[in-house]
Amino acid sequence: MCGIVGYIGYQDVKEILLRGLEKLEYRGYDSAGIAVLNESGVHVFKEKGRIADLRRIVDPNVNATVGIGHTRWATHGAPSRVNAHPHQSASGRFTLVHNGVIENYEMVKRDYLADVTFQSDTDTEVIVQLVEKFVNDGLATEEAFRKTLSLLKGSYAIAMIDAQDENTIYAAKNKSPLLVGLGDGFNVVASDAMAMLQVTNQFVELMDGELVIVTSENVTIQTLNGETVKRKPFTAELDASDIEKGTYPHYMLKEIDEQPFVIRRIIQKYQDDNGELAIDKAIINEVLNADRLYIVACGTSYHAGLVGKQLIESWAKIPVEVHIASEFSYNMPLLSEKPLFIFISQSGETADSRAVLVQTNKLGHKAITITNVPGSTLSREANYTLLLHAGPEIAVASTKAYTAQIAVLAILAAAAAKAKGFELDFDLTKELAIVANVMEMLCDAKEEMENIASDYLTLTRNCFFIGRAVDYYVCLEGALKLKEISYIQAEGFAGGELKHGTIALIEDGTPVIALATQEHVNLSIRGNVKEVVARGANPCVISMRGLEGDGDRFIIPAVHPDLTPLVSVVPLQLIAYYAALHRGCDVDKPRNLAKSVTVE
Ligand code: F6R
Repeated sequence: MCGIVGYIGYQDVKEILLRGLEKLEYRGYDSAGIAVLNESGVHVFKEKGRIADLRRIVDPNVNATVGIGHTRWATHGAPSRVNAHPHQSASGRFTLVHNGVIENYEMVKRDYLADVTFQSDTDTEVIVQLVEKFVNDGLATEEAFRKTLSLLKGSYAIAMIDAQDENTIYAAKNKSPLLVGLGDGFNVVASDAMAMLQVTNQFVELMDGELVIVTSENVTIQTLNGETVKRKPFTAELDASDIEKGTYPHYMLKEIDEQPFVIRRIIQKYQDDNGELAIDKAIINEVLNADRLYIVACGTSYHAGLVGKQLIESWAKIPVEVHIASEFSYNMPLLSEKPLFIFISQSGETADSRAVLVQTNKLGHKAITITNVPGSTLSREANYTLLLHAGPEIAVASTKAYTAQIAVLAILAAAAAKAKGFELDFDLTKELAIVANVMEMLCDAKEEMENIASDYLTLTRNCFFIGRAVDYYVCLEGALKLKEISYIQAEGFAGGELKHGTIALIEDGTPVIALATQEHVNLSIRGNVKEVVARGANPCVISMRGLEGDGDRFIIPAVHPDLTPLVSVVPLQLIAYYAALHRGCDVDKPRNLAKSVTVE
């Protein structure tokens, strides 16, 4: 997490850095800062809170054409002005921003910096103090920077300026994302291309263990051993309007509304020359060669993986296990003889998932990454990538990526089934097109969702979601959406599991949202609803057309029974959105969270 930016060129840098940080705020938003360098020296502005708070304290009269900036999600050291980046060396000569975690910072402090008085509680400060120590020992800045990097263990994306050199930004990357952007008379660095699309769409990727010397005219990439690396730039194919809210009050609402278009785009992108949904042959061969698939993911992506398991097992008859990435590394299941890994990650940068990929790569197992971000770490490091084509997802709460993940998993499941000779008895293209249409109708039902949110969730302290079969997986996602943005304690349960303990939590008026989209469990889930009502719960049943019962609060137009998660999640996303809104929460940037979780 955390986002960094840097610019060196001819324009006034303050606004470029601030605008860049606004685009990176999804990576962390508990404090932020910029440092700009001009003939009178380095000027640091930093503040606890959002970029808007930082904006207020930046002195408009300080003009400069080189600078670096940072938006923080705290790991070491509480969110505070002192712990906010940029950090400076003891003399103030070096100023640095960092995204990542320096695992050996205590050792570095003890072995090299025992006589330095530290200003902050961060791991980052050792980097800048170490550079200064090596410069004081007689090294030139570039050598001191290189020597410092060679001593660090952990993850970092760094940008540093030297008060005695207005012509250079020093940057480096290991495990945390960093791109260099190229311009005419200027160059930039950024954690994500989105931050610098304002000035360029030409970017060069950096690899782990590389450093880069950036001037307004040149970009020199080197390995830590000093070998120069040549790498071609790529064009970031992001439409600047994709990353704007437009007329929407929040990114989350915009992204919920985009879901029908995303499904249609996925249909289009995954069609072969004959207009049939297809997956790259090499990927299908890997799937067919495997005796078991292991899906690894976190959070919402994990929930999409649970639905994917259901689709792959029932359509392609291949056994699938789904694992939470953060547990997998030290709690690895006994693997089958020919495992194939599928990593699901919207960002493609999640450290927990990446740690598993590093491990499975070492074991020599093949991996596919399903991600929204081409060129992301998980995409680069897996053997194959399936893209979500969902467009940038900015709101911290994932919505369109979840449905895109399920749609791509459905296409994978269908392609694997076909390759194994199990023809589906329906046309997936047509069924996904119906899903997109139904999604559109659900997005139009905002008023009803807002009413549900006010009727059930305005004052409550908790809420339960119950469902059976695939509805249970959607309930897990519905509960996650609600808790992360409204701070209502929300939990998803398998309907049949309630009576084994959880039902003790039901009190007079406790909201229980029940999904009923599956015919084979319809009677059972309705039985569970009766059980909670008998104990005082306030039930809100959301059912599928054809399965509706008396008193259901909302009925979703019918889609193919295997594809219901793609539509049943939409009301839950909207209910969470309005609940958060009514409770005065910051919908797009909920407390304590960040969009891209790049620490383990
Ligand atoms: C919840 C949410 C998170 C992410 C999780 C994994 O709304 O967004 O639970 O799903 O942090 O992130 P990715 O998919 O980027 O690996």
